[in-house]
Amino acid sequence: MKYGKKNVVFGFVYLIVTLILGVFISFKLQSDQSFAKEPFAFPRVIMRASHAHGNLEAVLNIIIGLIVDRLKISDGLKNTVTLLAIFGAIMHSGMLLIVPLIPISGKLAPIGAISFVVTMALMAYSVSKGMEGK
Ligand code: HEM
Repeated sequence: MKYGKKNVVFGFVYLIVTLILGVFISFKLQSDQSFAKEPFAFPRVIMRASHAHGNLEAVLNIIIGLIVDRLKISDGLKNTVTLLAIFGAIMHSGMLLIVPLIPISGKLAPIGAISFVVTMALMAYSVSKGMEGK
């Protein structure tokens, strides 16, 4: 596992962060009445978005990491896919995560979303080229 290991390790570590965010939201819902009352108010809405997308983006990194080294593509393309998937998670749900601390970071989130779209297009192309052992 030359390239994919980065995605798998990143995915599990990032999942710890995004799951803890879920736990934090649960505690906040029980302890803060104004937070619990308004489902679409800031910062609950942004924390929920970061939690939900972050969980998915962590799992996507784990899946990509398990596949990427078996694809019949160049090492350069494998490296690109690996880095774009990690960059996508940090720039999308990662930027949403820090919005309560650094509000301007939310403006960067679309960069991460686009990075994930490009990653998925590259994965679709790469998998169509075939996989070792298949
Ligand atoms: C892989 C595991 C998990 C997944 C896939 C997941 C996914 C989601 C999704 C999709 C939402 C709804 C977001 C929305 O409506 O915008 C959500 C909300 C929520 N999650 Fe998780 N979650 C996971 C684990 C956890 C854990 C471990 C906790 C806490 C113990 C947690 C606490 C919450 C809470 C409290 C909400 C509601 C937030 C709100 O209403 O503002 N989640 N989660």
